[in-house]
Amino acid sequence: MKLKSGSEGETFLIGKALGGCLKAGDTVLLRGDLGTGKSVLARGIASALGIDRPMASPSFTIMQPYEGVCPVYHFDLYRLSDPDEIYFAGLEEHIGSDGVAMIEWPEILDETPPVNVDICIQRGNGFDERELEVRLNGMEDRAQLICSSLKPFSEGSA
Ligand SMILES: Nc1ncnc2c1ncn2[C@@H]1O[C@H](COP(=O)(O)OP(=O)(O)OP(=O)(O)O)[C@@H](O)[C@H]1O
Ligand SMILES: [Mg+2]
Repeated sequence: MKLKSGSEGETFLIGKALGGCLKAGDTVLLRGDLGTGKSVLARGIASALGIDRPMASPSFTIMQPYEGVCPVYHFDLYRLSDPDEIYFAGLEEHIGSDGVAMIEWPEILDETPPVNVDICIQRGNGFDERELEVRLNGMEDRAQLICSSLKPFSEGSA
């Protein structure tokens, strides 16, 4: 589904609405150009999962783990240079595991891992405007819940 955000706060709320529908084993891809709001979305998702401590600037680590209602693994692959680093950051072992994995800059990977939610966030016309495209894979059980949670942000609803 396509969504629109008019501010950082609104993007955070989109993440929070989505995060409230996620559970351990889910994986979220966060795609989009530099500075579009992937980390803002990640913070919103994490907040819905009970993580209230500030999230580290993820660019300095490839994976930052958090403990909320379930473990949350926040990956930022932007600075990845050596493919071995992925292995050490535990990408494979944290996908579809005991927690929710969120992956910024998955484009860096040769192969996209299996994910439930694929979000692309891009700049819109106004400075603070963003357009989001959310795709769900095999979430039949929760697709309706997710769609109704995100409905307030969907295009044309404002
Ligand atoms: N509608 C919006 N949604 C999200 N962020 C917005 C919005 N409007 C303005 N911003 C600003 O855009 C920036 C988004 O930063 P953020 O770190 O989330 O981007 P990012 O996509 O994670 O970047 P990077 O590619 O460097 O990881 C913030 O400075 C935020 O204030
Ligand atoms: Mg980021």
